[in-house]
Amino acid sequence: MDRSNQIVVGVTGASGGPYALRLLDCLDQAGVDVHLIVSPHGRRLLADECDVRVMDPEHLIGRASTHVRVYAFNDIGALPASGSFRTDGMVICPCSSNTLGAVASGLGDNLITRAAHVTLKESRRLIVVHREMPLNGIDLENLVRLQRAGAVICPASPGFYLRPGTVGELIDFVVGRVLDLLDVPHTLDVRWKGRAGGISEA
Ligand SMILES: Cc1cc2nc3c(=O)[nH]c(=O)nc-3n(C[C@H](O)[C@H](O)[C@H](O)COP(=O)(O)O)c2cc1C
Repeated sequence: MDRSNQIVVGVTGASGGPYALRLLDCLDQAGVDVHLIVSPHGRRLLADECDVRVMDPEHLIGRASTHVRVYAFNDIGALPASGSFRTDGMVICPCSSNTLGAVASGLGDNLITRAAHVTLKESRRLIVVHREMPLNGIDLENLVRLQRAGAVICPASPGFYLRPGTVGELIDFVVGRVLDLLDVPHTLDVRWKGRAGGISEA
């Protein structure tokens, strides 16, 4: 099926606001139409971690954009709530254990959980950037449940093999993997290119 160039992004109250902002920035740069839903706790985290208090493109990505459309958390009648609205998928980034549990339970009583439910039932890509540590058994079971229902579990877990030197590079590692999973082109440096030389036996 042709790409619709529409992606739903849910932002919840897990630590990781910078991941969300960088993801929005890259999706906008790629010309993707973003349908953004931020939970009330997600708003708190964006304020605490990123000093972002207004949900519009200027504050979220630092520039005006016609690609980013923001929806009210409780607007169950909005476009992403319906399977007839075609998208290329949805990302929940960051995803709290609360929202993870709700989606894994089939709940749909806010626009993030409803859109996630719709994404799964339409067999579209749902990427869950869960952030919590350590994980209890309930989280682990919910992650397995969602993965079996078709979601891609993509923990906010940056690698160090590219030798990141800044927080921005750690953020880009996670965001680049999410963009790859969405088949959205980007220029983030996230690819292993191999490294000459081995490990000394001494
Ligand atoms: C500063 C702060 C950091 C938090 N970090 C996390 C986190 O990393 N992961 C998580 O699952 N919940 C975290 N929480 C708790 C969630 O915000 C809380 O469970 C909330 O109910 C999530 O609601 P939501 O899923 O609707 O956004 C944090 C809360 C605060 C205030």
